[in-house]
Amino acid sequence: MPQQLALSRAAKLIGISRATLQKRIKDGGLHSFDGTISTDELLQLYPDLKLEESGLFEQTRKIKEEAFRRRIMDHALPAKEVLAERLFEQGMELNDIKQHLQHYHTLVVGLQDRIHELAESSPAAKSTLDKLDQWLERELRQVLGEEQKPDSLAVMDAMLKVMSAHVSLQPSGRDFFIEGNDTLLEAALKAGLALNYGCSSGNCGLCKARVISGQVMRTRHSDYVLSDPEKQQGYTLMCCHTAVSDLTIEALEATSASDIPRQQLTARVKALTPLNNSMMMLHLQTPRSHRLRFLAGQSVTLGYVNAGSGEFPIASCPCNDRDLQFHIERGLGGTFGEKVWNGLKPGENITVYGPWGDYLFNDDAQNSSLFIAFDRGFAPIKSLLEHSMARESNDDMVLAWGASAADGHYMNNLCRAWDDALENFHYLPVSMDGAASAQAGTAQVVEKLLDNFPRTRRFEVYLAGPEDYIAPAMSQLMAAGFSKSQLTPIVV
Ligand code: FES
Repeated sequence: MPQQLALSRAAKLIGISRATLQKRIKDGGLHSFDGTISTDELLQLYPDLKLEESGLFEQTRKIKEEAFRRRIMDHALPAKEVLAERLFEQGMELNDIKQHLQHYHTLVVGLQDRIHELAESSPAAKSTLDKLDQWLERELRQVLGEEQKPDSLAVMDAMLKVMSAHVSLQPSGRDFFIEGNDTLLEAALKAGLALNYGCSSGNCGLCKARVISGQVMRTRHSDYVLSDPEKQQGYTLMCCHTAVSDLTIEALEATSASDIPRQQLTARVKALTPLNNSMMMLHLQTPRSHRLRFLAGQSVTLGYVNAGSGEFPIASCPCNDRDLQFHIERGLGGTFGEKVWNGLKPGENITVYGPWGDYLFNDDAQNSSLFIAFDRGFAPIKSLLEHSMARESNDDMVLAWGASAADGHYMNNLCRAWDDALENFHYLPVSMDGAASAQAGTAQVVEKLLDNFPRTRRFEVYLAGPEDYIAPAMSQLMAAGFSKSQLTPIVV
């Protein structure tokens, strides 16, 4: 009998994104029942899928090879205590199945005995009962003699359950997997979820969540003490626990900028990388125990001792809250910007204050998205895009990037790589070099965009760039049929 698999688990087993699978369901190529899919239907859709060729099998094979041992031990496998618990859980499940089978076997043997007894004591029914007995005998011989073909997806699913656990979140219904030594919080952030948290190190209690079903295990020390009623209700600290079995937990997610508190922290300059003649990437790393909680698209104020401060959009994803990236344009950002271009060194400290702003991704829009960046406007849009990719959104995403300088598409390779790797992402670089005015430049972008992607007229639109470009681009989009409510602009 085919098994039913949760959507995210099925996607992981086949090695495709959940978004692609959702698209198949939406197109009618695959049926889903209560958020699950049958292994039979999946194998029909992906007939070439073989256990030996799956990423999971490969991962297990590599574990056996000494050369990969340490890397896998560090990153892919959970700690041995968690692994032992998961194997124990699997053992319990197998034991249940075995007991059920034994029970059925006893029932069938009892049924045969009963049929024989009745046949002997009721001559009138003997012929019918003999036929029933023969039929039962034949069916049993067939079932027991048949070589059972293993359900490769079910086998892979059993392996996956040992390597990683699936977590469903209430009330949002979102879900994610926990792999390696990740805590619940780390895995949720990597999956693009904006859960509530503070210190990430077991001190503040802000990451409290209630376990509705499943088992968790503490993997990090915590100083915060849960009250007895909290313990009785199943509360746990997400930053210090991982999942032993598949879990359902109750935790609140931030849905607006007002859900994120202002924070101040000191981060270290990890790297300064020129992206072209006028754009520098400033890469900051926060302390492990004092990360920046923010939403994709937000900005922060950066300050350096005696070099003033400036507000900059974060150009990285909240799914990596320790590694913050900024695109600092030469000549902008006052004395702080000057310092970035002249004299700031890796290892120095920067004060980070914020986050600010409500230029946010509309998670509830259930709509495909069009991103229009002008020059440095790519920074907040990169954050939105990376967030959307972490969430494995199945909606279409189109990025049009207008650049006023010849080398203005300063992360062209990254955008092209996304375009190559993701079925639902499309990239359109547009040169505004040589345009007589900002208005003429934006007109070139809008025109080329609508020529190439006319259906984007129904999309949610996120615009970002210098003031000169945003106002004309908004007017041109509205003249082309977009409504004002579709447009979310930010001036950077
Ligand atoms: S985030 Fe502070 S205790 Fe978990």
